[in-house]
Amino acid sequence: MDSVRVRPLRSDDLPSAERASAITFLEADRRGRRVGEPEPRPRPAAASRQWIDRMRHFRTEDPGGCWVAVDESEGDDGVIGFAISQNRGPFWFLATYGVLPGHQAKGIGRRLIDATLAHADGRQGMFSSTVHPGATRRYRLAGFSLHPQMRMVGTVDRATLPAITGLHEGRDDDIDWMNHLDRRLRGSGHGPDHAYMRRTLRLVVSRAYGRPGYVYIDDRGRAALLAAAHPATAQDLLWEALAASSGDTLVNCITPANEWAVDVGLAARLDIGQEGYLALRAMPPPAPYLASGHFL
Ligand SMILES: CC(C)(COP(=O)(O)OP(=O)(O)OC[C@H]1O[C@@H](n2cnc3c(N)ncnc32)[C@H](O)[C@@H]1OP(=O)(O)O)[C@@H](O)C(=O)NCCC(=O)NCCS
Repeated sequence: MDSVRVRPLRSDDLPSAERASAITFLEADRRGRRVGEPEPRPRPAAASRQWIDRMRHFRTEDPGGCWVAVDESEGDDGVIGFAISQNRGPFWFLATYGVLPGHQAKGIGRRLIDATLAHADGRQGMFSSTVHPGATRRYRLAGFSLHPQMRMVGTVDRATLPAITGLHEGRDDDIDWMNHLDRRLRGSGHGPDHAYMRRTLRLVVSRAYGRPGYVYIDDRGRAALLAAAHPATAQDLLWEALAASSGDTLVNCITPANEWAVDVGLAARLDIGQEGYLALRAMPPPAPYLASGHFL
């Protein structure tokens, strides 16, 4: 008899789900490593804590989108797979998804994704996909279009940084118009995810009339999520993030609809790489927009 049960994520599952996630993605990174890339390293303790904190946020906001697979032959608390998704109005996103390497290709991933898609109930959807063959197969079979993503990597040549004016540190009263801009670009505001990101990331905004835009910048100076009404504003915001970077940096989730970001990266003397797909259902690739891996 099949001893694997797919059930809603409980808050006491989070440490076990985090361990499963760390093992699954380390193995996937090793498998997907290209010649010349450094050996992937285990997830540091701070990143594990951040993972648990983020997933707790998702479970609080929309528990119906959060699922785990447990092997009951090993008790009810050993997570072997997880799929964390969220509905935000008419929009659905998949924040993370994985099955422990030893349990893959046995249909567990399908049961997990089916549970999240039943919760999505036909909403338009978006998420960032790895190149893992099990993942891409699952997504296309579930009806998602896979848009190849570029990324820009390297160290910014600081002599190329332009003088940018008209940007400001974000405030809580910016969130209303940011949600409005999100709706224009991806069909729904980030809502409670803005409050979460405000707590953990730096927010820089353009409040210029008719040219709004914002970027969240992480503690390593990476653009974690960027949205703008016009490509010129998006470019200013990306330059601001690049100016905050030190050492090697990364601009991720660039679809071909967002060549404005490639142009900034090239001007800063970063290199173009290719990395995974933006998976979309019932919506075009947002632009000017750089999605966040977890908050989309
Ligand atoms: C993506 C993932 C969650 C799918 O879980 P799973 O339990 O392997 O999924 P399933 O067995 O239900 O389905 C995967 C499909 O791809 C196939 N598949 C699985 N692993 C494969 C592999 N390494 N190579 C080729 N095909 C593979 C399976 O046969 C199955 O196809 P089928 O249903 O037509 O037979 C899992 O493979 C995984 O954790 N991958 C690494 C992490 C990752 O990339 N996560 C996605 C983040 S966007």
